Amino acid sequence: MNLPSFLWLWKMAAWSMGFSLLAYFILGGTGLWMWNRRAVRSPRPQWLRPFHYITGIVLVLLVLLLLGIGLVGTVGYYGNLGHSPHLAAGLVVVGLVLISAGSATQIGSWKWARSLHVGTNSLLFLGFVWVLFTGWDVVQKYLPD
Ligand code: HEM
Ligand code: HEM
Repeated sequence: MNLPSFLWLWKMAAWSMGFSLLAYFILGGTGLWMWNRRAVRSPRPQWLRPFHYITGIVLVLLVLLLLGIGLVGTVGYYGNLGHSPHLAAGLVVVGLVLISAGSATQIGSWKWARSLHVGTNSLLFLGFVWVLFTGWDVVQKYLPD
């Protein structure tokens, strides 16, 4: 495959990343809101938890889509993987998102689940910054001069 035919794939990556960040901040906002309601022992709106959960599922799907784009694009171009720190960054982000989602399903039944959920999500912010900068870096070589 020649270079320009790949550009649409990396544009899709950039868009999905934008939506992932949007989902992340919505999750952060609604998560802190739930936390605050619990801390002051007052009821939360009924839609809050399902909304947080569904946005979380959207984030999981977006990140898996990005992983797919990255793997397919890189293998399609080079025939193998591991051309930059972006690979490690991508795997770390996918791992953290899956741990976060997995721990979320245990909140209420396992006492460390909430701490694990909040902890992985704080690290996830750094992961996103890392994957974004390394992704931005590698995308440069696919751009037309
Ligand atoms: C990966 C997908 C995600 C899923 C499926 C998910 C789901 C959940 C669930 C089920 C709860 C428990 C709500 C309850 O106490 O009833 C929760 C709590 C929370 N989530 Fe998420 N979440 C996700 C991602 C995130 C992200 C990315 C953040 C932060 C940026 C976040 C921040 C929080 C916070 C702060 C709480 C604590 C609420 C409390 O203490 O009551 N979540 N989440
Ligand atoms: C959660 C977000 C992301 C994940 C999980 C992810 C995952 C991956 C993975 C696993 C690879 C294969 C890397 C290798 O084997 O060397 C890859 C490659 C790539 N990704 Fe991402 N990626 C993400 C975000 C981005 C973003 C935001 C961009 C920029 C728009 C981007 C652009 C690229 C490019 C250009 C490659 C080809 C690597 C190369 O030519 O060395 N990715 N991605």
